[in-house]
Amino acid sequence: METKRVATLTLDDGRSIELPMISGTLGPDVIDIHGLSALGVFTYDPAFFSTASCTSEITFIDGDAGLLYYRGYPIEQLAEQPDFLEVCYLLLNGELPSAAQKKNFVEHVTRHTMVHDQLARFFNGFRRDAHPMAVMVGVVGALSAFYHDSLDINNPEHREISAFRLLAKLPTIAAMAYKYNVGEPFIYPKNKFSYVENFMYMMFATPAEDYVPNPKLVRALERIFILHADHEQNASTSTVRLAGSSGANPFACIASGIAALWGPAHGGANEAALKMLEEIGDVSRVAEYVQGVKDKKYRLMGFGHRVYKNMDPRASVMRETCYEVLEELGLENDKLFKLAMELEQIALHDPYFIERKLYPNVDFYSGIVLRALGIPTNMFTVIFAVGRTVGWISQWNEMIAEKGQKIGRPRQLYTGATRRDFVQVDKR
Ligand code: CMC
Repeated sequence: METKRVATLTLDDGRSIELPMISGTLGPDVIDIHGLSALGVFTYDPAFFSTASCTSEITFIDGDAGLLYYRGYPIEQLAEQPDFLEVCYLLLNGELPSAAQKKNFVEHVTRHTMVHDQLARFFNGFRRDAHPMAVMVGVVGALSAFYHDSLDINNPEHREISAFRLLAKLPTIAAMAYKYNVGEPFIYPKNKFSYVENFMYMMFATPAEDYVPNPKLVRALERIFILHADHEQNASTSTVRLAGSSGANPFACIASGIAALWGPAHGGANEAALKMLEEIGDVSRVAEYVQGVKDKKYRLMGFGHRVYKNMDPRASVMRETCYEVLEELGLENDKLFKLAMELEQIALHDPYFIERKLYPNVDFYSGIVLRALGIPTNMFTVIFAVGRTVGWISQWNEMIAEKGQKIGRPRQLYTGATRRDFVQVDKR
């Protein structure tokens, strides 16, 4: 990192400070404001529009150009060629694996796919109609109560075992959350399957009927996992980092990430987008619905992004996958899909959306694909969480391994009451 240039800040009382400017390998320069507190002032940047919270070597996004790289590799190439576990290795270790490294990595993940049997009983404490994301937050958080042998975050071996456990067990827990919800028995993982095949098997097989994964559909889900694997310092990743900065164990940190992901402005958008399509119901109602959006009665879910002010590169890949899956399943004339395409066209051509740079994002298309795969709407954000787990772990690992890592502690601009004296209740 280069730190030769400076930015000079002068306050209205004449005091001034030189702040170092830092360049990364790609992307805009940043102004290091560490020294500001010496002047007795803070910066104010709610919602982090102009603030980098850390340095990271994992993921790069250029929102204006519509670029997304994992460890330098463009997402379009990663979505096309490697499988999900190869991408996981890349995110976790910084480099693509050799054939031997990949074999070893896949073996490790595969060996950890089963969960402690006692954990299966944990599910009985939930109502059957609980949202699967509520179950995920609880059960993933509970993993720390089952695997205490790997909780020393300062021990790299412990961190590695926890990473394998999380990566391997998330699909198992996600499939269990689904089975519990629909009242079917849990299906144990089968090690002959790939990571994604195994997840589909645990979701769709029953003790009465086997499930044979369709390679085209497996590839579609593989792409969804790859496209969602990391996305630099988004809300859930920042939550994982902040929770982890206090020294909390990785299972607790990932559970906090799942909780942050759940909201409709973040990972919950795929579920919200599908619900929106169902609510619109028919192509004839699209214009009326879009008018409601322009009147700011509600938002078009699956559209817009804080960073991408151009087409989300993940959305372009997912759009292609969407067509492939619908063709494979003979669903090209599906009513909801036609409606989605009509909405997409309006949003791409209407000045309201063009002026605000509101393009369809990845969740708009992934919702349609997941529905076509037979995955119920309330599982969409769970699928996102399964894919994002590797990103959360990579970012958590990067932070813990940092020299001089400190607890994250934002400050505030206080706007409450000034000092006042307590008044007894009978005098109020
Ligand atoms: N529909 C209609 N108008 C919108 C939308 C939308 N989806 N998103 C933003 N706007 C408008 C907003 O009303 C505002 O208009 P104006 O300037 O007239 O007040 C303008 O665009 C800027 O909006 P903002 O709220 O300042 O933008 P933001 O960067 O804070 O919000 C967002 C980003 C993703 C939360 C927002 O676009 C949104 O709510 N989208 C719908 C939810 C969604 O699809 N989220 C998934 C994001 S991709 C998956 C992920 O990474 O989690």
